[in-house]
Amino acid sequence: MNVTHLECAACGLRHEARRLHNLCTQCGKPLLVRYDLKRAAVSLTKESLAARAPDLWRYREVLPVEHDENIVNLGEGFTPLLHASRLGAQLGLSQLFIKDEGQNPTQSFKARGMAAAVSMAKELGAKKLAVPSAGNAAGALAAYAARAGLAAFIFMPNDTPRANVIDCEQTGAQVTLMDGLITDCGAEVARRKEAEGWFDVSTLKEPYRIEGKKTMGYELAEQFDWELPDVIIYPTGGGTGLIGMWKAFDEMEQMGWIGSKRPRMVTVQASGCQPIVRAFAEGKRFADEFPNAQTTASGLRVPRAIGDFLILDALRASGGTAIAVTDEELIDATKVIGAAEGIFCAPEGAACLPALQKLMAEASVKADERVVLFNTGSGVKYVESFSS
Ligand SMILES: Cc1ncc(COP(=O)(O)O)c(C=O)c1O
Ligand SMILES: [Zn+2]
Repeated sequence: MNVTHLECAACGLRHEARRLHNLCTQCGKPLLVRYDLKRAAVSLTKESLAARAPDLWRYREVLPVEHDENIVNLGEGFTPLLHASRLGAQLGLSQLFIKDEGQNPTQSFKARGMAAAVSMAKELGAKKLAVPSAGNAAGALAAYAARAGLAAFIFMPNDTPRANVIDCEQTGAQVTLMDGLITDCGAEVARRKEAEGWFDVSTLKEPYRIEGKKTMGYELAEQFDWELPDVIIYPTGGGTGLIGMWKAFDEMEQMGWIGSKRPRMVTVQASGCQPIVRAFAEGKRFADEFPNAQTTASGLRVPRAIGDFLILDALRASGGTAIAVTDEELIDATKVIGAAEGIFCAPEGAACLPALQKLMAEASVKADERVVLFNTGSGVKYVESFSS
């Protein structure tokens, strides 16, 4: 076990490891897990990876679980990084890749975060786990909680895609549908959790989902033979995956695996809900809540993110940017990607394509640069988005 402590991402206050935590006890911002990376690097070497299982637990030394028996595993992670040569040729890019997170258990990258969070909840003794979700995080929590023998209480907007609701019910969770958005669902969890004895596993309100999601950064490096790409385009709601990858890059540099060069990180949001895009354009470190949030890409319907400053810091430090695309653009893009590459993307993942096209239109991406689009989930969960 190489975890040394948890550290507040805003004020730096140290929190003890091995205890259930939510936000910083001093300032209410997210906590990040810190490791003794020198110690981790003794057994976690690039060479050692060749013999390890093709799931995210191959990076065991930089993951927080102490005892192997607490790992809740459905085969998450180590998803394919596919060279999108046909789509690339259409766009005039020779090195376009798609990281296909739709191939995770529960069909989205949310499996990574929940595998880590549920394993830690189990290890630290939580019994009832609650989450507000736009859909995919709910399905992932339901599945991992079931596999761990823990109870899952899920709160989703009542217009969440049907497949997400059925998915949670069929994996044994207790589902509550609410009027409003994910932020309203989060407020309901916060209001009831103490009386109900729930542990709140909301994005970034507990420290371990990001640890599971950061493995996308480790995988990119490993799959590209330890050379990070030039540009990463990532559909951003709460931002856990982007913040996690950024953390992974720093950890890998500290372990001597990569240098200081970083990809340009690009956030994609829907034009009907673009708090991070606005804050980026206005030069703000914290994002205002986006009013009347609307988009068919339900995972992007996050009007306020507690990790806003971490997303915005990473975009700026990387020389990246934040781009909004319309629902029409992202739905049209699903078929373009699907027909060219055989990958049926979630609308959130498809949104990366029009964002890339906008970057190319302003000459921000060169023809031979290595670009990765994150398809964060599978389109099969979104039949409503494609049937009108
Ligand atoms: C398919 C999909 N993509 C992207 C996101 C946004 O992810 P994050 O909260 O890590 O920014 C979500 C969140 O629900 C999602 O379900
Ligand atoms: Zn703090």
